[in-house]
Amino acid sequence: MPQTTLPIQLTVNGTRRRIAVAPHHTLLEVLREDLRLTGSKECCLVGECGACTVLVDGWSVDACLVLAVEADGADVLTVEGLASPDGRLAPIQAAFLDQGGVQCGFCIPGQLMSAHALLAEHPHPTRAEIEEGMAGNLCRCACYEQIFAAIGQAAAGDAPDLGGLGAGAHAGGARAGAKTSAEGLDQ
Ligand code: FES
Ligand code: FES
Repeated sequence: MPQTTLPIQLTVNGTRRRIAVAPHHTLLEVLREDLRLTGSKECCLVGECGACTVLVDGWSVDACLVLAVEADGADVLTVEGLASPDGRLAPIQAAFLDQGGVQCGFCIPGQLMSAHALLAEHPHPTRAEIEEGMAGNLCRCACYEQIFAAIGQAAAGDAPDLGGLGAGAHAGGARAGAKTSAEGLDQ
């Protein structure tokens, strides 16, 4: 029997996408499998680790807990949308690299998105605000101090300009071309 799909519309990293999704598919599944935006990571799938964090209409959410149909009409920002179109890293990405906050890297896309949301709400966060804002993002490499330092560095405007760094060395999968390749998959 053919699987039922529902049409939805999302604006993902500034590009409007029309896509037919299975009603039970999460936003994370649609981002990773339908739109090929694999920066958002699949880990616990129960809202515990934050590896799948994306911004929906400016709010940080666990994409594994949101049905894609619930996001119909929303503006979604993923880690692929943090760098500028020419691949230049966002200050928060450069600060993560500069502070050594990236070890295995698996948690980093979610950490970056939560940090991005935190800085949008608190441009100059206190230590307590950083700890609270990042509480939903686990790091099994325990880079918490470096990540907190990176957020402070970005908030202070002291992040280095690291350019795009090329495809092999990037903070959280935000490399030149990632956005472009996904943009060609409109359905
Ligand atoms: S994979 Fe979504 S919170 Fe862990
Ligand atoms: S850098 Fe390895 S899990 Fe965070």
